[in-house]
Amino acid sequence: MSIVIRTIAPDEYAAAIDVMTSAFLDRPDIARVAESVRDRWDAGRTWVAFDGARACGTFRSWATELTVPGGATLPAAAVSAVTVLPTHRRRGIMTGMAAKEHAAIRERGEAVGVLWTAEYPIYGRLGYGPATRTGTMRLDVSRTRFHGAPATGVELVTPDPTVRDEVRSIHEMWRVRRAGEIRRAPIRFDVALGLEDNPWAGRWKGFLALRRDAGGAVDGFVRYNALRTWDDDHAGAVVEVQELYALTDEAYAALWRFLAEIDLLATVKAPGRPLDERLPWLLANARAARMTDLVDGLWVRLFDVPRALEARCWATAGSLVLEVVDDDAAGGRSRLALDAGPDGATCRPTGRDADLVVPVAALGAAYLGGTRLCDAVIGTGFEEPTPGALAVADRLFRAADEPWCSTGF
Ligand SMILES: CC(C)(COP(=O)(O)OP(=O)(O)OC[C@H]1O[C@@H](n2cnc3c(N)ncnc32)[C@H](O)[C@@H]1OP(=O)(O)O)[C@@H](O)C(=O)NCCC(=O)NCCS
Repeated sequence: MSIVIRTIAPDEYAAAIDVMTSAFLDRPDIARVAESVRDRWDAGRTWVAFDGARACGTFRSWATELTVPGGATLPAAAVSAVTVLPTHRRRGIMTGMAAKEHAAIRERGEAVGVLWTAEYPIYGRLGYGPATRTGTMRLDVSRTRFHGAPATGVELVTPDPTVRDEVRSIHEMWRVRRAGEIRRAPIRFDVALGLEDNPWAGRWKGFLALRRDAGGAVDGFVRYNALRTWDDDHAGAVVEVQELYALTDEAYAALWRFLAEIDLLATVKAPGRPLDERLPWLLANARAARMTDLVDGLWVRLFDVPRALEARCWATAGSLVLEVVDDDAAGGRSRLALDAGPDGATCRPTGRDADLVVPVAALGAAYLGGTRLCDAVIGTGFEEPTPGALAVADRLFRAADEPWCSTGF
Protein backbone atom coordinates (compact mmCIF):
# COMPACT_ATOMS: atom_id res chain seq x y z
CA MET A 1 0.00 0.00 0.00
CA SER A 2 1.39 3.37 -0.86
CA ILE A 3 -0.03 6.27 1.08
CA VAL A 4 0.19 9.84 -0.17
CA ILE A 5 0.00 12.61 2.42
CA ARG A 6 -0.69 16.13 1.22
CA THR A 7 -2.62 19.25 2.10
CA ILE A 8 -6.26 19.40 1.15
CA ALA A 9 -7.89 20.84 -1.99
CA PRO A 10 -11.10 22.90 -1.62
CA ASP A 11 -13.28 20.09 -3.02
CA GLU A 12 -11.90 17.46 -0.63
CA TYR A 13 -13.37 18.65 2.66
CA ALA A 14 -16.29 16.22 2.55
CA ALA A 15 -13.87 13.29 2.16
CA ALA A 16 -11.80 14.57 5.09
CA ILE A 17 -14.84 15.05 7.31
CA ASP A 18 -16.02 11.56 6.38
CA VAL A 19 -12.70 10.11 7.59
CA MET A 20 -12.67 12.23 10.70
CA THR A 21 -16.21 11.43 11.76
CA SER A 22 -15.77 7.72 11.01
CA ALA A 23 -12.70 7.63 13.25
CA PHE A 24 -14.52 9.57 15.99
CA LEU A 25 -17.57 7.28 15.67
CA ASP A 26 -19.80 10.22 14.84
CA ARG A 27 -22.34 10.64 12.00
CA PRO A 28 -23.25 14.30 11.56
CA ASP A 29 -24.52 15.78 8.30
CA ILE A 30 -21.19 15.49 6.48
CA ALA A 31 -21.99 17.88 3.63
CA ARG A 32 -23.07 20.53 6.12
CA VAL A 33 -20.01 20.13 8.30
CA ALA A 34 -17.74 20.18 5.24
CA GLU A 35 -19.39 23.37 4.04
CA SER A 36 -18.87 25.09 7.36
CA VAL A 37 -15.24 24.03 7.89
CA ARG A 38 -14.30 25.12 4.36
CA ASP A 39 -14.27 28.74 5.56
CA ARG A 40 -12.99 28.01 9.06
CA TRP A 41 -10.08 25.66 8.44
CA ASP A 42 -6.80 26.64 6.86
CA ALA A 43 -6.34 24.36 3.83
CA GLY A 44 -2.56 24.83 3.97
CA ARG A 45 -2.56 23.35 7.49
CA THR A 46 -4.99 20.50 6.79
CA TRP A 47 -3.25 17.24 5.88
CA VAL A 48 -5.08 14.30 4.37
CA ALA A 49 -3.67 10.82 3.76
CA PHE A 50 -4.84 9.05 0.61
CA ASP A 51 -4.78 5.36 -0.18
CA GLY A 52 -5.28 5.64 -3.92
CA ALA A 53 -8.34 7.85 -4.32
CA ARG A 54 -9.61 6.96 -0.84
CA ALA A 55 -9.00 9.51 1.93
CA CYS A 56 -7.96 7.56 5.03
CA GLY A 57 -6.39 10.02 7.46
CA THR A 58 -6.56 13.65 8.61
CA PHE A 59 -4.27 15.90 10.67
CA ARG A 60 -4.65 19.65 10.93
CA SER A 61 -3.52 22.63 12.93
CA TRP A 62 -4.55 26.22 13.38
CA ALA A 63 -2.53 29.26 14.36
CA THR A 64 -2.78 30.42 17.94
CA GLU A 65 -0.71 31.84 20.79
CA LEU A 66 0.17 30.10 24.03
CA THR A 67 0.52 32.11 27.23
CA VAL A 68 3.60 31.05 29.19
CA PRO A 69 4.55 31.63 32.85
CA GLY A 70 5.02 35.37 33.31
CA GLY A 71 2.42 36.34 30.70
CA ALA A 72 4.43 36.33 27.45
CA THR A 73 2.78 34.65 24.48
CA LEU A 74 4.38 32.36 21.93
CA PRO A 75 3.19 31.55 18.39
CA ALA A 76 1.74 28.06 18.58
CA ALA A 77 0.21 25.44 16.31
CA ALA A 78 -2.97 23.95 17.78
CA VAL A 79 -3.16 20.39 16.47
CA SER A 80 -6.53 18.71 16.01
CA ALA A 81 -8.62 16.44 13.77
CA VAL A 82 -6.00 13.69 14.09
CA THR A 83 -7.75 10.64 12.67
CA VAL A 84 -7.14 7.49 10.68
CA LEU A 85 -9.86 5.19 9.36
CA PRO A 86 -10.37 2.00 11.37
CA THR A 87 -9.48 0.08 8.18
CA HIS A 88 -6.06 1.80 8.01
CA ARG A 89 -4.98 2.03 11.64
CA ARG A 90 -1.55 1.09 13.02
CA ARG A 91 0.29 1.33 9.73
CA GLY A 92 2.13 4.54 10.56
CA ILE A 93 -0.29 6.90 8.80
CA MET A 94 -0.75 9.23 11.79
CA THR A 95 3.01 9.23 12.32
CA GLY A 96 3.51 10.16 8.66
CA MET A 97 1.00 13.03 8.84
CA ALA A 98 2.55 14.29 12.08
CA ALA A 99 5.99 14.34 10.43
CA LYS A 100 4.62 16.55 7.62
CA GLU A 101 2.91 18.97 9.99
CA HIS A 102 5.82 19.08 12.41
CA ALA A 103 8.15 20.06 9.54
CA ALA A 104 5.63 22.75 8.54
CA ILE A 105 5.46 24.03 12.14
CA ARG A 106 9.24 24.43 12.21
CA GLU A 107 9.17 26.14 8.82
CA ARG A 108 6.50 28.60 9.94
CA GLY A 109 8.57 29.36 13.04
CA GLU A 110 5.92 28.36 15.57
CA ALA A 111 7.75 27.72 18.82
CA VAL A 112 5.30 25.20 20.29
CA GLY A 113 2.58 22.76 19.36
CA VAL A 114 -0.43 22.20 21.61
CA LEU A 115 -3.24 19.68 21.62
CA TRP A 116 -5.86 17.83 23.64
CA THR A 117 -5.77 14.10 23.35
CA ALA A 118 -8.66 11.67 23.09
CA GLU A 119 -6.47 8.90 24.51
CA TYR A 120 -3.47 9.35 26.75
CA PRO A 121 -0.94 7.03 24.99
CA ILE A 122 -1.09 8.60 21.53
CA TYR A 123 1.19 11.65 21.61
CA GLY A 124 4.10 11.05 23.98
CA ARG A 125 5.98 9.32 21.17
CA LEU A 126 5.48 12.42 19.02
CA GLY A 127 7.16 14.61 21.65
CA TYR A 128 4.10 16.07 23.40
CA GLY A 129 3.79 16.08 27.18
CA PRO A 130 0.78 16.77 29.44
CA ALA A 131 1.34 20.31 30.73
CA THR A 132 -1.98 21.32 32.30
CA ARG A 133 -4.66 19.48 34.22
CA THR A 134 -8.33 20.11 34.75
CA GLY A 135 -11.11 18.77 36.90
CA THR A 136 -14.83 19.05 37.43
CA MET A 137 -15.90 21.33 40.28
CA ARG A 138 -19.16 20.25 41.91
CA LEU A 139 -20.89 22.55 44.37
CA ASP A 140 -23.69 21.14 46.54
CA VAL A 141 -25.53 24.41 47.15
CA SER A 142 -27.65 23.13 50.07
CA ARG A 143 -24.56 22.41 52.19
CA THR A 144 -23.10 25.87 52.46
CA ARG A 145 -23.52 29.60 52.53
CA PHE A 146 -21.09 32.09 51.05
CA HIS A 147 -18.79 34.40 52.96
CA GLY A 148 -19.15 38.08 52.25
CA ALA A 149 -21.71 40.29 50.62
CA PRO A 150 -24.38 39.17 48.14
CA ALA A 151 -23.55 39.17 44.43
CA THR A 152 -23.81 42.53 42.69
CA GLY A 153 -23.57 43.58 39.09
CA VAL A 154 -24.70 40.27 37.55
CA GLU A 155 -27.12 40.59 34.67
CA LEU A 156 -28.65 37.92 32.37
CA VAL A 157 -28.26 38.96 28.75
CA THR A 158 -29.30 37.75 25.33
CA PRO A 159 -26.26 37.28 23.11
CA ASP A 160 -25.91 39.74 20.23
CA PRO A 161 -22.82 41.12 18.45
CA THR A 162 -22.25 43.76 21.16
CA VAL A 163 -22.43 41.20 23.94
CA ARG A 164 -20.19 38.87 21.93
CA ASP A 165 -17.55 41.60 21.70
CA GLU A 166 -17.72 42.10 25.47
CA VAL A 167 -17.37 38.38 26.09
CA ARG A 168 -14.49 38.19 23.63
CA SER A 169 -12.66 41.07 25.21
CA ILE A 170 -12.97 39.49 28.67
CA HIS A 171 -11.52 36.29 27.30
CA GLU A 172 -8.72 38.17 25.53
CA MET A 173 -7.79 39.94 28.77
CA TRP A 174 -8.04 36.71 30.74
CA ARG A 175 -6.05 34.45 28.46
CA VAL A 176 -2.83 36.47 28.72
CA ARG A 177 -2.98 36.27 32.51
CA ARG A 178 -2.84 32.53 32.83
CA ALA A 179 -0.09 30.25 31.59
CA GLY A 180 -1.57 27.52 29.43
CA GLU A 181 -4.36 29.59 27.92
CA ILE A 182 -4.52 30.11 24.16
CA ARG A 183 -5.96 32.67 21.78
CA ARG A 184 -9.26 31.62 20.24
CA ALA A 185 -10.37 32.11 16.66
CA PRO A 186 -13.05 34.87 16.62
CA ILE A 187 -15.68 32.51 15.15
CA ARG A 188 -15.59 30.46 18.36
CA PHE A 189 -17.29 33.27 20.26
CA ASP A 190 -20.15 33.39 17.75
CA VAL A 191 -20.60 29.63 17.94
CA ALA A 192 -20.32 29.55 21.74
CA LEU A 193 -23.04 32.19 22.08
CA GLY A 194 -25.38 30.68 19.48
CA LEU A 195 -24.89 33.48 16.96
CA GLU A 196 -23.52 30.90 14.49
CA ASP A 197 -24.37 27.25 14.05
CA ASN A 198 -22.14 24.60 15.49
CA PRO A 199 -22.25 22.15 12.59
CA TRP A 200 -21.47 19.24 14.92
CA ALA A 201 -23.97 19.95 17.65
CA GLY A 202 -26.51 22.49 16.43
CA ARG A 203 -26.97 26.01 17.73
CA TRP A 204 -26.07 26.77 21.35
CA LYS A 205 -29.04 27.52 23.55
CA GLY A 206 -28.21 28.39 27.10
CA PHE A 207 -27.83 31.22 29.58
CA LEU A 208 -25.30 34.01 29.64
CA ALA A 209 -24.71 36.38 32.53
CA LEU A 210 -22.34 39.34 32.42
CA ARG A 211 -20.94 40.86 35.56
CA ARG A 212 -20.27 44.63 35.71
CA ASP A 213 -18.14 46.49 38.24
CA ALA A 214 -19.39 49.54 40.12
CA GLY A 215 -18.40 51.74 37.16
CA GLY A 216 -20.40 49.61 34.69
CA ALA A 217 -17.45 47.93 33.00
CA VAL A 218 -17.83 44.22 32.26
CA ASP A 219 -15.32 42.27 34.37
CA GLY A 220 -16.54 38.71 33.98
CA PHE A 221 -19.14 36.40 32.51
CA VAL A 222 -20.61 32.95 32.92
CA ARG A 223 -22.22 30.77 30.28
CA TYR A 224 -24.28 27.83 31.52
CA ASN A 225 -27.19 25.55 30.89
CA ALA A 226 -29.46 23.33 32.97
CA LEU A 227 -28.94 19.59 32.67
CA ARG A 228 -32.01 18.65 34.69
CA THR A 229 -34.54 20.60 36.70
CA TRP A 230 -36.62 18.07 38.65
CA ASP A 231 -35.57 15.15 40.80
CA ASP A 232 -38.72 13.07 41.43
CA ASP A 233 -41.01 15.52 43.22
CA HIS A 234 -38.55 18.20 44.26
CA ALA A 235 -36.48 20.80 42.55
CA GLY A 236 -33.06 19.33 41.87
CA ALA A 237 -31.63 21.27 39.00
CA VAL A 238 -28.04 20.72 37.93
CA VAL A 239 -26.58 23.79 36.34
CA GLU A 240 -23.58 23.06 34.13
CA VAL A 241 -21.10 25.86 33.75
CA GLN A 242 -19.69 26.00 30.24
CA GLU A 243 -17.40 28.95 30.85
CA LEU A 244 -16.74 31.27 33.75
CA TYR A 245 -14.13 34.01 33.57
CA ALA A 246 -13.56 36.81 36.04
CA LEU A 247 -10.93 39.51 35.91
CA THR A 248 -11.21 40.43 39.61
CA ASP A 249 -11.79 38.60 42.88
CA GLU A 250 -15.04 40.51 43.30
CA ALA A 251 -16.33 39.39 39.91
CA TYR A 252 -15.27 35.81 40.62
CA ALA A 253 -17.16 35.73 43.92
CA ALA A 254 -20.21 37.41 42.40
CA LEU A 255 -20.49 34.97 39.49
CA TRP A 256 -20.15 31.86 41.65
CA ARG A 257 -22.58 33.21 44.20
CA PHE A 258 -25.07 34.14 41.50
CA LEU A 259 -24.94 30.56 40.18
CA ALA A 260 -25.31 29.00 43.62
CA GLU A 261 -28.36 31.10 44.44
CA ILE A 262 -30.39 30.26 41.33
CA ASP A 263 -33.75 28.85 42.43
CA LEU A 264 -34.66 25.18 41.84
CA LEU A 265 -30.96 24.36 42.07
CA ALA A 266 -29.25 21.44 43.81
CA THR A 267 -25.84 21.33 42.17
CA VAL A 268 -23.52 23.51 40.16
CA LYS A 269 -21.27 21.36 38.00
CA ALA A 270 -18.32 23.01 36.29
CA PRO A 271 -16.20 20.70 34.11
CA GLY A 272 -12.80 21.66 32.75
CA ARG A 273 -11.87 23.93 35.66
CA PRO A 274 -8.35 24.71 36.94
CA LEU A 275 -6.99 22.62 39.80
CA ASP A 276 -6.43 25.76 41.86
CA GLU A 277 -10.10 26.82 41.62
CA ARG A 278 -10.66 29.23 44.50
CA LEU A 279 -14.37 28.56 45.03
CA PRO A 280 -13.91 26.57 48.29
CA TRP A 281 -12.39 29.67 49.93
CA LEU A 282 -15.60 31.60 49.28
CA LEU A 283 -17.66 29.09 51.24
CA ALA A 284 -18.49 28.75 54.92
CA ASN A 285 -18.31 25.00 54.32
CA ALA A 286 -15.53 24.41 51.80
CA ARG A 287 -16.40 20.67 51.63
CA ALA A 288 -19.57 21.57 49.74
CA ALA A 289 -17.31 22.14 46.72
CA ARG A 290 -15.34 19.20 45.42
CA MET A 291 -12.97 18.83 42.52
CA THR A 292 -13.46 15.46 40.83
CA ASP A 293 -12.51 13.73 37.59
CA LEU A 294 -9.00 15.14 37.41
CA VAL A 295 -7.52 14.62 33.99
CA ASP A 296 -4.67 15.84 31.81
CA GLY A 297 -5.54 18.97 29.84
CA LEU A 298 -3.36 20.71 27.26
CA TRP A 299 -0.36 18.82 25.90
CA VAL A 300 2.67 20.85 24.84
CA ARG A 301 5.44 20.07 22.38
CA LEU A 302 8.45 22.35 22.18
CA PHE A 303 9.66 22.93 18.63
CA ASP A 304 11.97 25.89 19.30
CA VAL A 305 13.32 25.05 22.76
CA PRO A 306 15.63 28.08 23.19
CA ARG A 307 12.90 30.52 22.21
CA ALA A 308 10.37 28.82 24.46
CA LEU A 309 12.68 28.76 27.48
CA GLU A 310 13.72 32.39 26.98
CA ALA A 311 10.07 33.50 26.75
CA ARG A 312 8.89 32.24 30.14
CA CYS A 313 9.69 33.71 33.52
CA TRP A 314 11.67 31.95 36.22
CA ALA A 315 11.04 32.38 39.92
CA THR A 316 14.50 31.27 41.00
CA ALA A 317 17.95 31.47 39.48
CA GLY A 318 19.90 28.54 38.11
CA SER A 319 22.13 27.39 35.27
CA LEU A 320 22.52 24.05 33.61
CA VAL A 321 23.32 22.40 30.31
CA LEU A 322 20.28 20.52 29.08
CA GLU A 323 20.46 17.88 26.40
CA VAL A 324 17.07 17.50 24.77
CA VAL A 325 16.35 14.22 23.04
CA ASP A 326 14.05 14.86 20.09
CA ASP A 327 13.83 12.29 17.28
CA ASP A 328 12.16 14.95 15.17
CA ALA A 329 15.02 17.45 15.31
CA ALA A 330 18.13 17.45 13.16
CA GLY A 331 20.56 15.01 14.75
CA GLY A 332 17.96 13.80 17.26
CA ARG A 333 19.44 15.87 20.11
CA SER A 334 20.26 19.43 21.01
CA ARG A 335 22.47 20.62 23.82
CA LEU A 336 21.52 23.95 25.34
CA ALA A 337 23.03 26.13 28.05
CA LEU A 338 20.20 27.58 30.13
CA ASP A 339 20.92 30.52 32.43
CA ALA A 340 17.68 31.47 34.08
CA GLY A 341 16.63 33.82 36.83
CA PRO A 342 13.96 36.28 37.90
CA ASP A 343 15.34 38.84 35.41
CA GLY A 344 14.99 36.50 32.42
CA ALA A 345 16.84 33.68 30.75
CA THR A 346 19.26 32.93 27.99
CA CYS A 347 19.21 29.55 26.32
CA ARG A 348 21.84 28.91 23.66
CA PRO A 349 23.32 25.92 21.86
CA THR A 350 26.56 24.86 23.54
CA GLY A 351 29.41 22.40 23.16
CA ARG A 352 29.74 22.00 26.95
CA ASP A 353 28.97 18.66 28.58
CA ALA A 354 25.34 18.05 29.50
CA ASP A 355 24.25 18.21 33.14
CA LEU A 356 20.87 16.62 32.38
CA VAL A 357 19.50 14.65 29.43
CA VAL A 358 15.70 14.62 29.04
CA PRO A 359 13.17 13.71 26.33
CA VAL A 360 11.47 16.66 24.63
CA ALA A 361 8.07 15.35 25.75
CA ALA A 362 9.09 15.66 29.42
CA LEU A 363 10.29 19.19 28.82
CA GLY A 364 6.94 20.02 27.19
CA ALA A 365 5.11 18.62 30.22
CA ALA A 366 7.20 20.72 32.64
CA TYR A 367 7.34 23.85 30.48
CA LEU A 368 4.29 25.65 31.89
CA GLY A 369 5.37 25.01 35.47
CA GLY A 370 2.51 22.72 36.47
CA THR A 371 4.26 19.36 36.11
CA ARG A 372 7.44 18.50 37.99
CA LEU A 373 10.18 17.52 35.59
CA CYS A 374 11.13 14.68 37.97
CA ASP A 375 7.60 13.26 37.55
CA ALA A 376 7.59 13.68 33.78
CA VAL A 377 10.81 11.65 33.40
CA ILE A 378 10.27 8.99 36.05
CA GLY A 379 8.74 6.51 33.61
CA THR A 380 10.36 7.49 30.35
CA GLY A 381 13.91 7.91 31.64
CA PHE A 382 16.62 10.56 31.85
CA GLU A 383 20.34 10.83 32.38
CA GLU A 384 21.95 12.95 35.03
CA PRO A 385 25.69 13.25 34.27
CA THR A 386 25.85 15.96 36.95
CA PRO A 387 24.33 14.55 40.14
CA GLY A 388 21.58 16.82 41.45
CA ALA A 389 20.89 18.44 38.05
CA LEU A 390 17.31 17.14 37.94
CA ALA A 391 16.55 18.77 41.30
CA VAL A 392 18.01 22.06 40.01
CA ALA A 393 15.85 21.84 36.86
CA ASP A 394 12.79 20.97 38.94
CA ARG A 395 13.15 24.03 41.11
CA LEU A 396 13.68 26.22 38.05
CA PHE A 397 10.69 25.00 36.04
CA ARG A 398 8.08 25.28 38.80
CA ALA A 399 5.75 28.28 38.48
CA ALA A 400 3.75 30.02 41.17
CA ASP A 401 0.39 29.51 39.46
CA GLU A 402 -1.13 26.30 38.20
CA PRO A 403 -1.28 26.45 34.39
CA TRP A 404 -4.72 25.98 32.90
CA CYS A 405 -6.19 25.83 29.43
CA SER A 406 -9.91 26.48 29.23
CA THR A 407 -10.20 26.15 25.46
CA GLY A 408 -10.80 22.68 24.08
CA PHE A 409 -10.36 21.97 20.37
C1 LIG B 1 -5.15 7.71 17.07
C2 LIG B 1 -5.05 7.37 15.59
C3 LIG B 1 -5.07 8.67 14.79
C4 LIG B 1 -3.72 6.64 15.36
O1 LIG B 1 -3.51 6.50 13.97
P1 LIG B 1 -2.56 5.33 13.41
O2 LIG B 1 -2.31 5.64 11.98
O3 LIG B 1 -3.12 4.03 13.77
O4 LIG B 1 -1.24 5.60 14.23
P2 LIG B 1 0.20 5.04 13.84
O5 LIG B 1 0.07 3.78 13.07
O6 LIG B 1 1.02 6.13 13.23
O7 LIG B 1 0.73 4.73 15.31
C5 LIG B 1 2.02 5.03 15.73
C6 LIG B 1 2.23 4.36 17.06
O8 LIG B 1 1.32 4.90 18.02
C7 LIG B 1 0.58 3.83 18.61
N1 LIG B 1 -0.78 4.29 18.81
C8 LIG B 1 -1.54 4.93 17.91
N2 LIG B 1 -2.74 5.20 18.44
C9 LIG B 1 -2.74 4.69 19.69
C10 LIG B 1 -3.70 4.64 20.72
N3 LIG B 1 -4.91 5.17 20.55
N4 LIG B 1 -3.36 4.07 21.88
C11 LIG B 1 -2.13 3.53 22.03
N5 LIG B 1 -1.16 3.55 21.08
C12 LIG B 1 -1.49 4.13 19.93
C13 LIG B 1 0.65 2.72 17.62
O9 LIG B 1 0.44 1.47 18.20
C14 LIG B 1 2.02 2.87 17.04
O10 LIG B 1 2.95 2.31 17.94
P3 LIG B 1 4.18 1.44 17.42
O11 LIG B 1 4.99 2.37 16.55
O12 LIG B 1 4.88 1.03 18.68
O13 LIG B 1 3.60 0.32 16.64
C15 LIG B 1 -6.22 6.44 15.12
O14 LIG B 1 -6.17 5.25 15.86
C16 LIG B 1 -7.58 7.07 15.30
O15 LIG B 1 -8.05 7.71 14.39
N6 LIG B 1 -8.22 6.86 16.47
C17 LIG B 1 -9.58 7.38 16.70
C18 LIG B 1 -9.64 8.89 16.73
C19 LIG B 1 -8.69 9.46 17.77
O16 LIG B 1 -8.68 9.06 18.92
N7 LIG B 1 -7.87 10.44 17.35
C20 LIG B 1 -6.99 11.16 18.22
C21 LIG B 1 -7.64 12.43 18.55
S1 LIG B 1 -6.78 13.34 19.76
